Amino acid sequence: MHLQTLTVDIGGSGIKVMVLDAAGNPVVDRDRRETPQPAKPEAVIDVVLQLAADKTFDRVSVGFPGVIKQGVTMTAANLDLDWIGFDLADTLSHRLGKPVRVINDADMQGLGAVSGQGVELVITLGTGLGSALFLNGVLIPNLELGHHEFRKGQTYEEQLGRAALDRDGKKKWNDRLLKAIASLQNLFNYDTLYIGGGNTKHIMVELPANVRVVPNVSGLLGGIALWRD
Ligand code: BGC
Repeated sequence: MHLQTLTVDIGGSGIKVMVLDAAGNPVVDRDRRETPQPAKPEAVIDVVLQLAADKTFDRVSVGFPGVIKQGVTMTAANLDLDWIGFDLADTLSHRLGKPVRVINDADMQGLGAVSGQGVELVITLGTGLGSALFLNGVLIPNLELGHHEFRKGQTYEEQLGRAALDRDGKKKWNDRLLKAIASLQNLFNYDTLYIGGGNTKHIMVELPANVRVVPNVSGLLGGIALWRD
């Protein structure tokens, strides 16, 4: 069987797709479109259908920026309230005529990044702040650190998300990032922390030895792991 997997990364600013072969290697270049505004379910699904139209695949993995339970989107802080309680896996599966699995976007990114050794924490720096936790490669799903209080009465996402970077500038954002890393090290005592997401390109500070910046493409490469049984 040489099944091809379409992996989809739904973000607050862009929707990205890639097709992976059975071994998880890309068979086409990454394709991207802007996230429609407002980012309501039907509008986002239409963009996914457009991106899928010229590609060959047998199954679909979706990374979504919210809590996911059995393919249903339970939260969507940076998209639209209409997503709450929406059966994304089922809806997309009917529209594409292919099996679909959905997971939190940071969880998918982590699956494409971790080594499988010890306690590994992943954070993603994009529109929002995503997080994922692994023990020996096993995912503890739907860790929502982003909305947890960090400092000055603000959450990690309020201090380190896209809006904070734009509003407060790179210097403050980088200082906060180091404070967040220290805080997360004390909380999780992780062996390795991975940092992914589009805003990693703005990191200008030296990071501790057990912290690694991972390429944004891991968000899509992790999609193959959803089909490992
Ligand atoms: C959401 C998370 C998501 C993160 C990154 C947060 O606002 O609550 O589920 O992983 O943004 O997209």
